[in-house]
Amino acid sequence: MVEISTSFLSVEKENVMKTIYNIEVAKTDFFHIDVMDGKFVEHFTNDIMEEYSGYMKSVSTVPLDVHLMVKDVKKYIDTYLNYEPNIITFHIEAVKDKIEALELIKYIKENNCKVGIAVNPDTKIDKVYELLPYVHMVLVMTVFPGKGGQQLITDTLKKISDVKAYIQENDFDVCVEADGGIKLENVESVKKAGADIIVSGTGIIKQDDYAETIKKMKE
Ligand code: DX5
Ligand code: ZN
Repeated sequence: MVEISTSFLSVEKENVMKTIYNIEVAKTDFFHIDVMDGKFVEHFTNDIMEEYSGYMKSVSTVPLDVHLMVKDVKKYIDTYLNYEPNIITFHIEAVKDKIEALELIKYIKENNCKVGIAVNPDTKIDKVYELLPYVHMVLVMTVFPGKGGQQLITDTLKKISDVKAYIQENDFDVCVEADGGIKLENVESVKKAGADIIVSGTGIIKQDDYAETIKKMKE
């Protein structure tokens, strides 16, 4: 059964406390925190995502799944370690080489946090293969990062199955997360491709019955 990580990117500030409570009651496995710096991607969401992370830590035990869409990865790792996340994921496109990636991976793990590596739709999936022995998760973007509510790019599904096969062939202990444009109508194709964790924002938040939606996504 897959796990669900609900993205709060599309949650309005005036509804956030109620939504945190309702999404927890609906049995999400993680809260997905989408951090954007206005440089790696056009929008800037850090301030509101810090605010939401603070609320979550104060009222909930649901683990935080932090997705850094940022250029200055180290700066934002330091920021979000303050919220004791379960995992911090950064983009392979944000680092200059393998050495820098390995330094950041080591730094996150030294701070008692799991680490993920994210891959954009236009980045070849084998670019992260050499990092798989060192990370807990690979995040395959099924949309271009930067905003919620986009259409899933179906070509990215093969990347999920390719990296899943590579993980299994090499017996790595790495899970595969898919992120972007995933909803009830297309979740089966994402699960069939091999995703272990499904990120969904508008696919859950815009639905009336969170529990029913999450239950169906997990089935
Ligand atoms: C996009 C984010 C995704 C997005 C998911 O840059 O990384 O997590 O918010 O939202 P939906 O499910 O609405 O595409
Ligand atoms: Zn995300």
